[in-house]
Amino acid sequence: MFSKLIGNIFPTTKFYFKWPISFSTFMIFVIMILIIMFDSLKIVEGCSSRKVLEDTITERPGSKPTEQPKPAVEQPQCKPYTGDSINPVAGLTTNEWRTRYKMAMLLGGSADAIGYYRGRWEFQLKGQIIHDEVKAKGGIKSLNVSKPNWTLSDDTIMHLATGEAITEYIKTSANDLEKLYITIAKHYIKCMLDMVDRAPGTTTMKTVAMLDANDPKGYIIPFDDRGGGCGGAMRSMCIGLLYPDPKQLDLLIAVSIESGRMTHNHPTGFLGSLTSALFTHYAIQGKPVHMWGAGLMETLDKAWQYVNKVGRDVEKNKGAWSYFRDSWSRYLKIRCLEGGTQPLFPSPYGVRERDKFYKEISFDGWGGASGHDAPMIAYDAFVGAGNSWEELANRAFFHGGDSDSTAIIAATWFAISYGHKDVPVNNYQYLEYRDRLETVGEEIFNYVEKYFNEPKM
Ligand SMILES: *[C@@H]1O[C@H](CO)[C@@H](O)[C@H](O)[C@H]1NC(C)=O
Ligand SMILES: *[C@@H]1O[C@H](CO)[C@@H](O)[C@H](O)[C@H]1NC(C)=O
Ligand SMILES: [Mg+2]
Repeated sequence: MFSKLIGNIFPTTKFYFKWPISFSTFMIFVIMILIIMFDSLKIVEGCSSRKVLEDTITERPGSKPTEQPKPAVEQPQCKPYTGDSINPVAGLTTNEWRTRYKMAMLLGGSADAIGYYRGRWEFQLKGQIIHDEVKAKGGIKSLNVSKPNWTLSDDTIMHLATGEAITEYIKTSANDLEKLYITIAKHYIKCMLDMVDRAPGTTTMKTVAMLDANDPKGYIIPFDDRGGGCGGAMRSMCIGLLYPDPKQLDLLIAVSIESGRMTHNHPTGFLGSLTSALFTHYAIQGKPVHMWGAGLMETLDKAWQYVNKVGRDVEKNKGAWSYFRDSWSRYLKIRCLEGGTQPLFPSPYGVRERDKFYKEISFDGWGGASGHDAPMIAYDAFVGAGNSWEELANRAFFHGGDSDSTAIIAATWFAISYGHKDVPVNNYQYLEYRDRLETVGEEIFNYVEKYFNEPKM
């Protein structure tokens, strides 16, 4: 496995073959040990970690024929939509759009670093403790998000990997999706070398080791009953940046599913990837936020047609498909978000109530750790927060669940919809990898710019 990993990272160099095997094996070994050390430190400190939680899961939902469906929810009284219908992205100039694209990547990274806080907040199971600590620091506006106090976590590293694969692809080939997939696989393999102190998920570490960038079909891994985690959902938003046009929906479905199932080959995992990309695509179109869920439900039918057409793991996917759809359908019903009605939040809906709700909609008690609930909590926060960055942070970054993943997803949509005008500058100006993040946003924008110059919207 180790030499294969190295071979994948340097597929075109002759070097690798000249290296003594002991050297390359040694390097990878050191990195793996460091990652494991950091993970076990967290366990010793008594924090939960994704590793511990994933190890307790033997099977993902949908794979067990005996699994009981959750009881039907009572339909609340939903009122007709009364919000204003102002489209927050109407009339933006080309330059403003370019800035939104850059900020989508950058604010996503900033939110990840804040939600993660070097593991301290990601693995804090009580939202109230995080809120108290934020307050003691002077609120989100006082957070100077820079190294060494604040570092990016696996979510941004993998989002960058997806984004840099896309920018490499659009510069060379154009219309060969297989080429894009193998380029994405190559970047996922490479980015695993930059995971020390970033708390990568165990599913991702295990499955990336199966990818082979030298084989044209090396992006395909076996179906995984445990592949329902949020690792696909946290890194696919930039696929929505690449495909802003409603006419590109089929491409968005294909690329988000294939990139998702490179590591999370279970519908709960890869449909999360589809959702994060799709809602980015909706944000760019200025589609009213309360209609996004209904759009997702329609898109799931197309997603099934795609999976069926490609023909990989069709029976297993069919057996495991319903958990994601049913979970979203229940959520949309509870929130009056099935389409055309006014979103309904409980009152009060503070830190404690949100923690409880996020836990309820989760797979195993850790809100945001799965493919279905990472974008769901991000969406719940995004709908509830409107154009307030601070409120978005309260709901999506500072909670007792997998907070860095819900943070990066929600903040990316926020940056597209509302820009960075009201975001404290020190939340992002010194962010690690700021240049790389902005470059990905800008290069993808330059590639799709034509779409924004056509009259429409
Ligand atoms: C914020 O962090 C940067 C980079 O570490 C540093 O140069 C700057 O002085 C800090 N600003 C404040 C107000 O602490
Ligand atoms: C890092 O955090 C410490 C303790 O809160 C603070 O004193 C220091 O100024 C911070 N560093 C930066 C660069 O912001
Ligand atoms: Mg993370």
